Amino acid sequence: MQIAILNGVNLNMLGKRDPAVYGSTTLSQLETLIYGWASDVGVTARCWQTNSEGTYIDMIHEAFTGGVDGLIVNPGAWTHYSYAIRDALEVFDRPKAEVHLSAIEQREEWRRHSVIADVVDHRISGHGVDGYREAIAYLQERSG
Ligand code: DQA
Repeated sequence: MQIAILNGVNLNMLGKRDPAVYGSTTLSQLETLIYGWASDVGVTARCWQTNSEGTYIDMIHEAFTGGVDGLIVNPGAWTHYSYAIRDALEVFDRPKAEVHLSAIEQREEWRRHSVIADVVDHRISGHGVDGYREAIAYLQERSG
């Protein structure tokens, strides 16, 4: 099984950005954790991050045309308003999990709404980096 993990805008600043909310793990440490968790359950993972919305959409399209079996997405702030990312995710017709490090439902009003919520199969928020491990387990279980 092959999955892609797509981290969006500002997630390259993990570790430096508001550690009380997002934790102290850097993006590169998170990616190392993800590769380990994936290999533990026999899954091949590929991590991507971009601050460009168009590139993020291209990555979703590439995952779809490249035959990736499952997606984990944390689009960062795009979660709350990008209908373009929502539409791209809708095209991807295999299991998809939405992950947020922070508990978006308990934060500012504008963060509580996710425009991608209805096009994903599973949602995890507020579990920090462990949310990605849970999402990998979810996708792996769905494939079996
Ligand atoms: C986030 C939550 C978003 O509201 C925020 O804009 C982010 C990160 C999270 O992982 O908690 O950039 O997606």
